[in-house]
Amino acid sequence: MPSKAIQDALETARLPQINTELPGPKAREIVDRDAKYVSPSYTRTYPLAVKRGRGAIVEDADGNLFLDFNAGVAVCATGHSHPKVVQAIKKQVDDFIHISGTDYYYPHLPALAERLSRLAPGDFDKRAHFGNSGAEAVEGAVKLAMYSTRRQKLIGFFGAFHGRTLGALSLTGSKAKQRAGFGRQALDVTHVPYANCYRCPYNLTQATCGAFESKGPHCARVIEELLFKTTVPAEECAAIIVEPVQGEGGYLVPPASFLQTIRDIADRYDVRVIADEVQSGMGRTGRMFASEHFDLVPDIISIAKGIASGLPLGATVARSELMNWEPGAHASTFGGNPVAISASLATIELLEDGLIHNAAAMGDYLLEGLRELERKHEMIGDVRGKGLMIGIELVRDRKTKEPAASERDMVEIECFKRGLIIQGCGSSTVRLSPPLVIDREQCDFALKTLDEALTAVAGK
Ligand SMILES: Cc1ncc(COP(=O)(O)O)c(C=O)c1O
Repeated sequence: MPSKAIQDALETARLPQINTELPGPKAREIVDRDAKYVSPSYTRTYPLAVKRGRGAIVEDADGNLFLDFNAGVAVCATGHSHPKVVQAIKKQVDDFIHISGTDYYYPHLPALAERLSRLAPGDFDKRAHFGNSGAEAVEGAVKLAMYSTRRQKLIGFFGAFHGRTLGALSLTGSKAKQRAGFGRQALDVTHVPYANCYRCPYNLTQATCGAFESKGPHCARVIEELLFKTTVPAEECAAIIVEPVQGEGGYLVPPASFLQTIRDIADRYDVRVIADEVQSGMGRTGRMFASEHFDLVPDIISIAKGIASGLPLGATVARSELMNWEPGAHASTFGGNPVAISASLATIELLEDGLIHNAAAMGDYLLEGLRELERKHEMIGDVRGKGLMIGIELVRDRKTKEPAASERDMVEIECFKRGLIIQGCGSSTVRLSPPLVIDREQCDFALKTLDEALTAVAGK
């Protein structure tokens, strides 16, 4: 196809167009060169080599068009290269690219900090520290909790993903291979099971675990009833860090009482609650922050991914009186780069102008369609989610709930072959985390493709 025609196709396409075998010759060349020169620690399930993107469509190196239901791992909230975001970036690049907020002033830092202060849960003043990634946003939160309490112990959850830098890795409780080879952990973290009501780690149900009672669910109460009495003296505990919807661990939606009980326990012992909203924040769940679904008001909140439509930016937002550390206590040369902040301000405008609303509406639409697929496909054990953060857990047997891990990877590949980009999370969950710009036609295509992919994998 001549390149002009490809360009036009990308600009106007709503659905995939696959014209070559996959990977095509150019994508194959990129994949081969990558294998030779790039760190093999990255995890790729299939060979998508991207050249350009618009909205929810990405074009690969060979001119094939894909419908992106992953958004660069829940990052491109406003879609690929949204014109308003591109315009904001271009303008800022013309003005200046970098000066470093660690040592100088520029209007972008207070502008975004003020926006985040108003948007983050909690009717009180907040301050923001800026970094460049999710891991940095988490590390900033943990450092602040430690600094403000002068305590060192931390509580996290199995299945949690908080990043791979050494501090964040101590908090991550997701996969052994993320820790293997790196020896002892940098931070003193104790993990407990997350509220996974599909596979309750304590073999309870919401009716029996206390989720509907004022005492709260067992999985939250163990912090006070077990940890504080055994391995984590409350007076040495700085923070409990929790994803309001657990991401990499399987897109798990907890009962509201799980998070509220954590909040209550933390309040009783002056422990900080850190909400890691790196994946669940910035409109993805149909609210600006997932915490809002559960009436959770964290002390500190970590934000990244969707905050700047793809430019690297992370933020740690906390109560103003909590974020009162001394100059020099924490900073980063690139953190809060003006180009990234300009992209972020444009992103927030778009989110508030309708994308959050669209995420809620399209999320409901997808969940309805997926529940129909659940009735048809035995392999679907559970469908769950909020807004456009949706998990489809695959099992080999609905009774034993044996995870269908290899089948999940095969479903991903079958979708890729049909032009739909999805990704896994947890041990056998398909995650849907599309850009928040998707429409019904695109949801219908995704549902049809998942239906075909599940049929194909079940027949193998
Ligand atoms: C909840 C959560 N926290 C932290 C991170 C780490 O973010 P980054 O990869 O930008 O360091 C991730 C990344 O997936 C995440 O999902």
